[in-house]
This record gives sequence, structure tokens and C-alpha cells, in this order.
Amino acid sequence: MEFTRLRRLRSKGFFRELLRENTLLVSDLILPIFVVEGKGRKEEIPSMPGVYRFSVDSLKREVEEVKKLGIPAVLIFGVPESKDEIASSAYHQEGVVQRAVREIKKEFPDLGVITDVCLCSYTRHGHCGIIGYENKESGRFEIDNDKTLKILGKIALSQAGAGADMVAPSAMMDGQVNAIREALDGNGYRNVAIMSYAAKYASAFYGPFREAADSSPRFGDRSSYQMDYHNWEEALREVEADVKEGADIVMVKPALSYLDVIRRVKEAFNFPLSAYSVSGEYSMVKAAAQKSWIEEKKAVLEILTSIKRAGADMIITYWAKGVAEWIGD
Ligand code: PBG
Repeated sequence: MEFTRLRRLRSKGFFRELLRENTLLVSDLILPIFVVEGKGRKEEIPSMPGVYRFSVDSLKREVEEVKKLGIPAVLIFGVPESKDEIASSAYHQEGVVQRAVREIKKEFPDLGVITDVCLCSYTRHGHCGIIGYENKESGRFEIDNDKTLKILGKIALSQAGAGADMVAPSAMMDGQVNAIREALDGNGYRNVAIMSYAAKYASAFYGPFREAADSSPRFGDRSSYQMDYHNWEEALREVEADVKEGADIVMVKPALSYLDVIRRVKEAFNFPLSAYSVSGEYSMVKAAAQKSWIEEKKAVLEILTSIKRAGADMIITYWAKGVAEWIGD
């Protein structure tokens, strides 16, 4: 049978290459970068060995490396010092993200700069939206969706003003893509794209990120606005809504436990799709590798290729630089 002959032939020589169906490329990768206040800071995140928080002035060397390695874009997360109830430091012109974007764009104008649009790192309560109601005794609370939309629009505008090429709303508020699109279009930023976190699940795999971005909710959890991991049809509805609202790229997040969702979204919409291989996916492989329980390079390439094989067009990953060094295309 031809099938078994091919299997035998593939074990050596060029057949393996010719028969390869999916290939991970450096040009598929987006590197998340955490930016903090202050000067001269480059601090490793304890729960994410090999990942750092940079102050704006120490970003240049990191971004230079990213550029040299051929990684097309970075995704900026801010870790501000001042927090309040309305996340005002998220849309300040001198906010840490706005300054970082200006700095990167000044030095590397053709590197793609994507900015996270959310409230959780900028609010004292650590939720992704404005709190509309809270009962301290029962622990019940509600997010004010519509008030949050206004803030998300302001954040996106300020980031576009700083020079961001694309904004990435991760708050999971209803109508957030529409609100941001209107804010951008109404202010002359028609060419700023939106990558929406369309199917973002409430996940245990965000743990290390919350340490990195200091964004853990002080009470309750995010299950009222993030998705339940038992569901995939809901993901299709979320993606459909975001595509209708004007998203340019939709995202599934996390990636590794959601390969089926990635595949289904890709098949149902045939729309540009990104997958976020989140902090917990990074840290668990890193921890095992540090104990020599797993071979990091092989495991990482297998994981990221599986995400590509599932149907992602691009992958947001903390391994972007390492992978670029390993595969360099
Ligand atoms: C916050 C946000 C989170 C991540 C990206 N944006 C955390 C959360 O929702 O709690 C997680 C990314 C990661 O774990 O790498 N809106």
C-alpha cells in the first residue's frame, strides 16, 4: 500500500520535507512585552523565567533583538504604578504604554506594534471593567458593561494616538469591538486595526500573567465575562459577533487546551485567526525543562506547531525570541 511506503520513505531524506503539511515560521509569531514605570529596569518575572518587565528606556535593546530576529510584531502590556476605580492611567497620554509605543515607533517604525486594551492592570479592584455594583457581604458584584465600553474607546484612542498599528481588546465586554471601531473611525484612525480576544476563556492558565501584570482580581473572579471552558459553540457565537462588529483579526485564548476551538473557528469563518499561547502554557514547560524533565526546544516546537496545525494564522507566545533563534527562517 502506498501509504505504508510513504511512511517508510519519510524516515529519511527529502520525503520528510516534501510531505510536511504544516510549518511554524518566525513570521507567524507575536511577542508580548510587559512595560513598567521607572528607569533602567529589566526585571525577570519570577513565575515566568526568561520573561522580563522593562521600563520604557530599557526597551530599545529588547526590541532591537526582536527586529533582528525577524519577529513581525509585539504586543504591549502596561504595568502602571497608579491605579484607581476608572483605570485613568490606561488612557493617559504619558501612560506607560503610550510612552512605550512612541519610543518603539521612533526607533523601529516598521515593527508591528499591538496594544492590549483592558482595565485590569489599571484598576485597584483588578477587574477588566468598571464595577457597577458590589455587595461586600455576599461577594456579589456586577461589571458596568456600557461605562466600560467608553473607557475602552478612550484607551484605544490614546494608544492609536501614540502610534499603535493595532489594538487588542481583551476585556470581553459586550460590544467592545464596535465601541472601539467607532472611537477610532470618529477620530481619524481608520487605519488602526483591531485584533479582538473573541473567544477568551476563564482559565487557570493565566496565573503567571496576573503576577507579571499585577492584574489579579481583588475579589470574585472573571467568570461573568470570560467564557466557560466546557463550551465551544459559544466561541463561534462570540467570534461571529466580533467579526460583525468589525474585528480584523479574531483570537482564541488560551491555545493549547483549545486546539479544537481554534480548528472550529477557522473552519467556520475562514477569517484571520490568532491564538494566544498564554503564560501558564509557557511556565509549565519552562518549569519542567528547568528540572530536565522535558526537552524545552522540542516541546515548544511541538506545541506551537500543533497550534498552527489546528488552524491559527499567528501565535502570540512568550517563546517568540527563542523560537526565532531555533528555526530562523
Ligand atoms: C487581561 C489579560 C489576561 C491575559 C491577557 N490579557 C489575564 C486575564 O484575563 O486574567 C493573559 C495572558 C497570559 O496569561 O499570558 N485582560
